[in-house]
Amino acid sequence: MVRKHLVRKHLVRKRVAILISGRGSNMMALIEAAKDERYPAEIVLVISSDPAAEGLKHAAAANIRTEVVEHRMFGRDREAFERALQHELDQLGVELICLAGFMRLLTPWFVRQWEGRLLNIHPALLPAFKGLNTHARALAEGVKKHGATVHFVVPEMDSGPIIAQSAVPILNSDTEATLAARVLEAEHQIYPWALRQVAEGRVKIEGEHCLIDGRPVTTKNS
Ligand code: GRF
Repeated sequence: MVRKHLVRKHLVRKRVAILISGRGSNMMALIEAAKDERYPAEIVLVISSDPAAEGLKHAAAANIRTEVVEHRMFGRDREAFERALQHELDQLGVELICLAGFMRLLTPWFVRQWEGRLLNIHPALLPAFKGLNTHARALAEGVKKHGATVHFVVPEMDSGPIIAQSAVPILNSDTEATLAARVLEAEHQIYPWALRQVAEGRVKIEGEHCLIDGRPVTTKNS
């Protein structure tokens, strides 16, 4: 008699760390997406640069391992801080990193060793409004569209090949808070989507740009 063996195909999920410094709502959007075992990435670690970051509690409540690597402990020695980060990442065999409200600038040393495996989300339609206070600046400039961008990190701040963008309208009645809330909703959609594309190996970096399944990135309108 021929015995049939059932061979189950297991999805090999990419091991992801999320780096935070604060509230952690994007981190939670990624954690929620990865609860589905068909999602191609699992969140194995959350590291905060600030022991008081609210996101740490949310990650722990979701049973995700958390670590604090406090930048203050390293004074001005940014590479020493990053070596401590790297140590935590190595311990858990992390394959991809998502920055999610991580308020430290990373050195070229760190960025280069994670090239093509280090993602960031920025609350603006890059290359517009790099840096801080993006919502106030968008309102002050009177632009009609704003949004969020997920991109690969390169040594230059808020630059690097764009993986996903989502645009939102700016309404005449908007305040900084209402605009921030609309953008944040878009962020929570595109970050899990972008990580999925990367984890599934669909994203190819060609020079300054990404191709997804061989096609250029398009901005979504929400
Ligand atoms: C988000 O607006 C993100 O785009 C920016 O920092 C903020 C972090 O928010 N990089 P949260 O901690 O994810 O809630």
